[in-house]
Amino acid sequence: MKVTVVGAGAVGSAVADNIARKELCHEVVLLDIKEGVAEGKSIDMMQTAAILDFDTKITGSTNDYSKTANSDVVVITSGLPRKPGMTREELIGVNAGIVKGVSENILKYSPNTIFVIISNPMDTMTYLALKATGIPKNRIIGMGGALDSSRFRYYLSQALGCSPSQINADVIGGHGDTTMIPLTRLATLGSTPVSELLDAETLNKVAADTMVGGATLTKLIGTSAWFAPGAAAMSIVESILRDEKRVITCSVFLEGEYGQSDICMGVPVVIGKNGWEKIIDYKLNDEEKAAFSKSADAVRNMNNVLSTLSI
Ligand code: LAC
Repeated sequence: MKVTVVGAGAVGSAVADNIARKELCHEVVLLDIKEGVAEGKSIDMMQTAAILDFDTKITGSTNDYSKTANSDVVVITSGLPRKPGMTREELIGVNAGIVKGVSENILKYSPNTIFVIISNPMDTMTYLALKATGIPKNRIIGMGGALDSSRFRYYLSQALGCSPSQINADVIGGHGDTTMIPLTRLATLGSTPVSELLDAETLNKVAADTMVGGATLTKLIGTSAWFAPGAAAMSIVESILRDEKRVITCSVFLEGEYGQSDICMGVPVVIGKNGWEKIIDYKLNDEEKAAFSKSADAVRNMNNVLSTLSI
């Protein structure tokens, strides 16, 4: 098995590092446009192998797509990250051209690959990758919900004083500060709804903190986060390569599901060897349905910007 990670910045490196440590495949190719960066970071990671005891081979390449040939999965992190005060949406002008070019180049050498998209604005970049490549919808997966759900579980665990791994909770909708929808009603600690354990005010604060989870970190660090985005992407790659059929919230192409069409947005999907294999219907209540529809309007507005760009 072979995985390519495009973009050797902080997020791309974290994805490669996580995949190698877990030995999810034999080879990880890290590719970047900046001369020497992917090569350097790959060697740095390989110099942890003796200590961390992994046998996955990580190699770096400066923009030589032939090195990525026959990848089973390709993770795209390319483009600019957010700076403090920026929204993910403001990145569209620069990142759209990059993501389009990268996905087309990748496909020349790995025609059967499955794409995992991280670049922002993530839902629109996922939609763009689908339209640019024209490959079957099940092979294009946007990572946002996996990350947002992990942040939601973290904030819930802080409020509850328990381990994040004990919590089941999902964030659906768009991967934007105002478009994501933490599904508080369905969140549980073990089998107990968190709404029986926390008051409404606390739950509202947890949801609000989750929605600006990325922005909070960007403000603190000065650039976009990478540990949790890297781990979230790895979990999707893991479920594909091991055909685990995990249910993970990801941005996928909707054709009527959740009342939306011709759009990529975060919904719970089964992830396995064929990419995303099935959408799970969470049977939203009226309030959640209205939030999903509002979120879709915002994502669609962003998608419409694509036609105004000369890419
Ligand atoms: C974040 C970026 C990856 O939320 O969108 O940290």
